Amino acid sequence: MANLCVNIDHIATLRQARRDTEPDPIAAAMLVEQAGAGGITVHLREDRRHIQDRDVELLRQVVRTKLNLEMAATNEMVEIACRIKPDECTLVPEKREELTTEGGLDVSAQSSRLKVTCSRLREAGITVSLFINPEAGQIAAAVEVGADFVELHTGAYAGTRNEKDNQMEFQKVVAGAKLARQKGLRTNAGHGLTYRNVRPIAGITDMEDLNIGHNIIARAALVGLDRAVRDMLELIK
Ligand code: PXP
Repeated sequence: MANLCVNIDHIATLRQARRDTEPDPIAAAMLVEQAGAGGITVHLREDRRHIQDRDVELLRQVVRTKLNLEMAATNEMVEIACRIKPDECTLVPEKREELTTEGGLDVSAQSSRLKVTCSRLREAGITVSLFINPEAGQIAAAVEVGADFVELHTGAYAGTRNEKDNQMEFQKVVAGAKLARQKGLRTNAGHGLTYRNVRPIAGITDMEDLNIGHNIIARAALVGLDRAVRDMLELIK
């Protein structure tokens, strides 16, 4: 069975909207684990727009399942990761102006830099995953630079609007997972996964972690609203 890792960046986004202390991603991580998830994922961005360094440090202390740190392959981030030691680092491309991670890493285009990054992280005892589009060339390059995992980008699959395209994008993820396995890599997947589209991806042979954020936090905000309003009304009465 695939393992659910919940990306809690949006909890920090809500906190940063007021530069306040609530809601705290640490409390969210504990609830996520109590609900049965197998991992916590956070993205420490260069601009610190949501998750802060303090969050990653505290999460390292409280997370009992698996802590996956998404980050750009920069010196600053590698130093932070080697100090805090998450269980896994997922290397992602990062652009300041983007709303969320937009595409996979171009591993072949920066293979010498990624080789050094992978070996620094692995020497610190951290498992390394590369977020890539499900393409044969990127998978081969991921082997070349010494990654343990690839995280196959499911954004194109999630973004399809008809059954034919959906099947075509799904088959790319299936083929990517198969090729990764043949080449000795382990496979995670994520981006754009929802309550509607997750099942086929979860059913792919040897699929390990599914990193899901937006749709779970969006649902949490709605299913929790009724209770939150009732609690406030109770106090006002
Ligand atoms: N995987 C990676 C590498 C990501 O950058 C993100 C978004 O932060 C996710 C998974 C989760 O995507 P979503 O929020 O669409 O579930």
